[in-house]
Amino acid sequence: MNNVEKVLVVLAHPDLESSRINRSLADAVGDREGVEVHDLEAAYPDHVIDVPAEQVRLADVDRIVLQYPTFWYSMPGLLKQWLDDVMVRGWAYGTGQPGALKGKGFQVVTSTGGSEEDYQPGGFQGWDYADVLIPLKATARRLGMIWHEPLIVHGVREVTDEQLAEYGQRYRDLLGDRRDESVAA
Ligand SMILES: Cc1cc2nc3c(=O)[nH]c(=O)nc-3n(C[C@H](O)[C@H](O)[C@H](O)COP(=O)(O)O)c2cc1C
Repeated sequence: MNNVEKVLVVLAHPDLESSRINRSLADAVGDREGVEVHDLEAAYPDHVIDVPAEQVRLADVDRIVLQYPTFWYSMPGLLKQWLDDVMVRGWAYGTGQPGALKGKGFQVVTSTGGSEEDYQPGGFQGWDYADVLIPLKATARRLGMIWHEPLIVHGVREVTDEQLAEYGQRYRDLLGDRRDESVAA
């Protein structure tokens, strides 16, 4: 029996070619056993999402990773659309039974222009980044999913190539780590 966890990285970047951080991170995990990187812009350049195909894809994995650059304390529009279109009532929730994603892992990997020091109460960005993630944490909880420790690359302009490679290694390690941070009820 194969015990390798199946992970779907849902990658959303509007211009991956000009990306430094997210392209490098995706490359760091793309060849890891059990990991599939699903580039939403490449799959849906017209932004018309094949919902049944996405649901089949999700049903087959153990963990879903949302990977994106932070845009306005949130995610790029195509990823929000993907969430809205795919996580529908009667499939993800409201089935009268556990939703299709119950028990699967949920993880966020993101990058920010703002530095770690900026992301704190009273800091330049005003909030801790953990607070920015509350809507996604609530989503995971609502879907009965298991919240995994996020990977956040802060202060992208100051990140050296060496540090970026270290983040890539950390990302690989996190995908092999089944411990959950357990979502508070
Ligand atoms: C439209 C837009 C909105 C952004 N909003 C934020 C933000 O709210 N907070 C932040 O820290 N950085 C913000 N940034 C900076 C991006 O997060 C940063 O450029 C990105 O993480 C770099 O990743 P990449 O090299 O993969 O493109 C924003 C950038 C753009 C283009």
